[in-house]
Formats: sequence, structure tokens, C-alpha cells
Amino acid sequence: MSKITAAITAIGGYVPEKRLTNADLEKMVDTNDEWITSRTGIKERRILDIPGKATSDMAVEAVNELLRKRGIGADEIDLLIMATITGDLVFPSCANIVCDKVGAKNAWSFDVAAACSGFLYALETGAKFIETGKHKKVVVCGFDKMSAIIDYTDRNTCIIFGDGGGAVLLEPNEEGYGVVDAILKSDGSGREYLHQKAGGSLKPPTHETIDAREHYVYQEGKTVFKFATTNMADVSTQIMERNHLGADQVSYLLAHQANKRIIDYTAEKMHLPSEKVLMNIERYGNTTSGTLPLLMWDFEKLFKKGDNLILATFGGGFTWGSIYLKWAYDSK
Ligand code: UT7
Repeated sequence: MSKITAAITAIGGYVPEKRLTNADLEKMVDTNDEWITSRTGIKERRILDIPGKATSDMAVEAVNELLRKRGIGADEIDLLIMATITGDLVFPSCANIVCDKVGAKNAWSFDVAAACSGFLYALETGAKFIETGKHKKVVVCGFDKMSAIIDYTDRNTCIIFGDGGGAVLLEPNEEGYGVVDAILKSDGSGREYLHQKAGGSLKPPTHETIDAREHYVYQEGKTVFKFATTNMADVSTQIMERNHLGADQVSYLLAHQANKRIIDYTAEKMHLPSEKVLMNIERYGNTTSGTLPLLMWDFEKLFKKGDNLILATFGGGFTWGSIYLKWAYDSK
């Protein structure tokens, strides 16, 4: 019997309507369009500012889109994995809520919290349930409502993040398409440089934690930048080498959209020309768990059956990694 791989057979995505531009941010903090554009590549981000709407509501849009595209019902989903650090509630998991809202009555579901690497962690996890033959239809989502944990008086972080994401359907394939290889890493000592100080069991919410603005993202940008460039480039080149892929055999690099300069550095180390490096950071900023499925959704029409995609990421934890994916269908 031939080996079963987990192929992506449909994709959905979602970003909220509201745009937060660099010009808007100039009115909120001491910054300017030239600084943001040259240091990050970001021009605008999307913000989910509708009362009562949360991360699950964005994921529901994407899951419904992929079900429509594939022509299947929600009751056919065996497992739904949600990569997020901004679930609707502390518990239960956001994945449970998404399943309820889309009507995935036969699925079990759970969240994966690995910050910007969440989608790759979840994709590799979901792929294993397909590869073993245990499941036939696994949905992997990556979404964050970063605006819920961003301090819009802190110019170090508020210029970077946005809301949105995407979802993919994994199904068994016997021709070698789908997830071919994955390198995933973590180093919890990096938490010092990128974290949310309060709200967890270490520091439950109090008036003091709120007054001290500790329920927002804290980042030492320069240090994270240093680790992100070297580690993302390392795993991306490593996955090419161990799968005997030269730059000419890589169709596209899909890298976490945190900073254009980090992506450019990774692409340079992989010897990839700019036309193979996909970017939408200028329109959406950094959507954390959302960037990679959102990028895949945005550029789906480019992909042909057999294209070799390299996915790469780095984020809070620290967590990082790279996945080699063989695209399974001609996108229309
Ligand atoms: O997705 C999760 C992983 N995260 C990342 O990968 C992010 C990695 N880090 C970065 O992308 C970059 O470090 C940032 C975009 C966050 C910052 O860029 P930077 O080139 O590292 O700037 P910096 O923090 O070293 O700041 C340089 C200067 C400072 O002024 P002085 O001290 O040189 O006078 C900052 O105070 O720029 C100043 N600055 C700003 N100026 C205008 C910092 N933020 C701003 C701002 N507007 N928004």
C-alpha cells in the first residue's frame, strides 16, 4: 500500500472590513508612515471592532468558505484544530466554539497555542491524524484577534499587529502531495522577550495588573528580530537541504509576516528571487497565528498541482519551524 500523506484540498480566509492605516496610527502614537514602512513593510492592518465578535467568528467565515469550495458538510469534519493565542474565552477552547458555530457535530477539537508558529504546529499535528489513517477530514485554522491584546498607546507594538487568518482542509493523498516534511522547534527561555505579563496563572487579573497595562503584548523588538532572522533562515535552508531542493525547485516561500526585513533575509539565505517570495504584510500586518493560512488563501490562485511550497515561521515562545508542502491541486 502506498504511503498516505495529508494534502490541502481547500482553503478559506477572512479579514475584518475595518482598516487601521499608518496615517491613523500617526494620530494615536508618536510614529510616522516612513518609519513603519521602512522598518516593517506594513501599510495597514485589519481590525475586528464589532462588539460581540471574536476570534471564532472570523474562523467560522473561513471554515464555511472551505466547506463550500469542497462541496462537503460540516458534519463530515473529523477533527478541527485551531491555532490561536486570542481564543474567545480562557476556556473552553476556541476550536470547540468554532465547531459549535459551523455545526461540526461529529468532530473533536482543540486549540494549539504557539503564537506565530501556531499554524505550522497545528498543520503538522493535523497531518499526523491523516497519515495514520485515523481521520479522513481534518480542518486546521490559524486566527488571531490581536487587537484584543494590543496596547494602542505603545508604539513599539501597536504598529505591527492586525486581525485575521485562514483555514485549510486536510485529506488523505496517495500520490505524495501535501505535507512532505516538517522541522519544528521551541525554546521557552525566549518568553522573556515576547509575552503577555498578566492574565495567566502566574499573575491573574487584578486592578493592579490592569492599571499597569499588563494584559497587552510586551515585546523587546530588537532581540526578537535577531532570533527571528537567524532561526527562520536556519530551518528554511535545513528543510531544503534534507529534501534535496535547490532554489530553482522551490516554487514559493510563504514566511510568517512579521517584518519584511526578516522575510527578505530568509529568502536571501535560501537564494530565492523576489518573485518566489509571497508577501501581504503591507495590507494585513502581523496576524500572529493567522499570517500563513491568510497568505496561502490570498495567493491560492498562483498555485499549481505539484508546486513545492516552503512555509517558515518564528514567534513567541520562542517557537519556530518550517514545513515543506507539495500543493495538491490546480487553483482556479
Ligand atoms: O511575530 C512575532 C515575532 N516578532 C517579530 O518577528 C518582530 C521582530 N522585531 C521587529 O520587527 C522590529 O524589531 C520592530 C519593527 C519591532 C522594531 O524595529 P527596529 O528596527 O528593531 O527598531 P528599534 O526597536 O530598535 O527602534 C529604533 C528606534 C528607537 O529610537 P532610538 O532609541 O534609536 O532613538 C525607537 O524608540 O525607533 C524608535 N521607534 C519608533 N519610531 C517611530 C520604535 N518604534 C517606533 C515607531 N515609530 N513606531
